[in-house]
Amino acid sequence: MPKSSVAYVCAKCDTQFMKWTGRCLECGAWGSVSEIMMSTPSPAENNLITTAPVQPIALASLSTQNLPRLTTNINELDGVLGGGIVPGSLILLGGEPGIGKSTIALQLAKSINGALYFCGEESPSQIALRAKRVSADTLQLVDTMHAEAIIATIFAHKPPLAIIDSIQTLHTDAVSGEAGGIAQMRACTTQLLTAAKQTNTAILMIGHVTKDGALAGPKTLEHLVDTVLYLEGDRFREYRLLRAVKNRFGSTDEIGIFTMTERGLSEVHNPGAAFIQERGDVVPGSVLTCLMEGTRPLLVEIQALLTKTTFGYPQRRASGFDLNRLQILIAILQKRSGLNLAPYDIHINVVGGITADEPAADLGVCLAIASAYKDKTLSRELVAFGEVGLGGEVRPVRLTEKRVRECAQLGMRQIILPARAALPATPTGLSVTPVKNLEELILKA
Ligand code: TYD
Ligand code: MG
Repeated sequence: MPKSSVAYVCAKCDTQFMKWTGRCLECGAWGSVSEIMMSTPSPAENNLITTAPVQPIALASLSTQNLPRLTTNINELDGVLGGGIVPGSLILLGGEPGIGKSTIALQLAKSINGALYFCGEESPSQIALRAKRVSADTLQLVDTMHAEAIIATIFAHKPPLAIIDSIQTLHTDAVSGEAGGIAQMRACTTQLLTAAKQTNTAILMIGHVTKDGALAGPKTLEHLVDTVLYLEGDRFREYRLLRAVKNRFGSTDEIGIFTMTERGLSEVHNPGAAFIQERGDVVPGSVLTCLMEGTRPLLVEIQALLTKTTFGYPQRRASGFDLNRLQILIAILQKRSGLNLAPYDIHINVVGGITADEPAADLGVCLAIASAYKDKTLSRELVAFGEVGLGGEVRPVRLTEKRVRECAQLGMRQIILPARAALPATPTGLSVTPVKNLEELILKA
């Protein structure tokens, strides 16, 4: 069958069409579809063996010494990266606008001598203002977002670290399309990857993720880069979590915890207790749970509020907790522990802007709802964690011992946990209440 040599491609999402269309049928962008010439297959394609073979390398002959890393003076960041930045690696730092990506990048650039900061999103004078706030006055700025110019600069200066702020403003002559479109971002990333490997310069690219823009966002670049970091948190609250979702040079278990201050992001040294430090008076419906963020236990407050439904259909709302999971837990509570929750609107809030997406939070949420329902205040030093099954049974979760030890260290006195959890020894000063099911939970709490 003869192949057509013309195709129509959307500059935003890279979808191909047979015919021109004014609006991309995939991403909905207007005026983004344009004609491109497809390369016709060369006659040599039928003859498969046209290039010289490549010699295999014996794995045993390769050195497996630890890679030398650039350590920053930000321990939380080093931890997330698996012990520092690997020279020649390409790192993508994603996050919602305004979350603090440029701020952390400036702080990083400050701690590595000779780092270059390529700015396109803001003018050098705007960056200078911010740099002053984080005391990064000695920084070298380069005002260009032209990928070829950036690569030439990297080759000329061979800096240990180059920061690109941001990938959405980069553009290259190699492909057509507007800056921020998939085709442009992908081409720029591939070029930067080659430059990083050839010069041994570590490159950190900043990319914005918007709540609805997963398609056109940096998510599409994840497979190209060595490390993907996401800076998360609520823009209006002070905590920021830095998480590695992909790391070729380390585990993706670690998270870094920061607070946004007047002078940039500052590390949180006692993260286990960070989220409960500002806990006010304990009221009915408030309980602590212990979540694992990677390998770190965090104590987090869960709040439940029950109000009589004013409309026929009760409302269920959750902030920092999955709404579907909440609906299921409410159904289980109603069926298995006899709480009549139907006439109530139920609101759940996980304090501190973090998301409790671990099954271990189930027991905390159930206890918070039960406490609000019975209007009973729970002890300030009580922690509950465990997964809740549809039969109302409480199931063990991973790393029970580690969680219990952290609770003891932070001065907690009572822990409600799954009866089937294997706990070798109870730390002194702590009373452990094992529960088999929700009925027991409500009796014993
Ligand atoms: P920014 O790093 O510009 O976010 P992003 O690059 O992810 O879009 O910073 C976002 C917010 O942080 C901004 O609203 C101002 C605030 N901020 C501070 O609170 N303290 C500081 O020292 C700095 C530099 C910024
Ligand atoms: Mg920025």
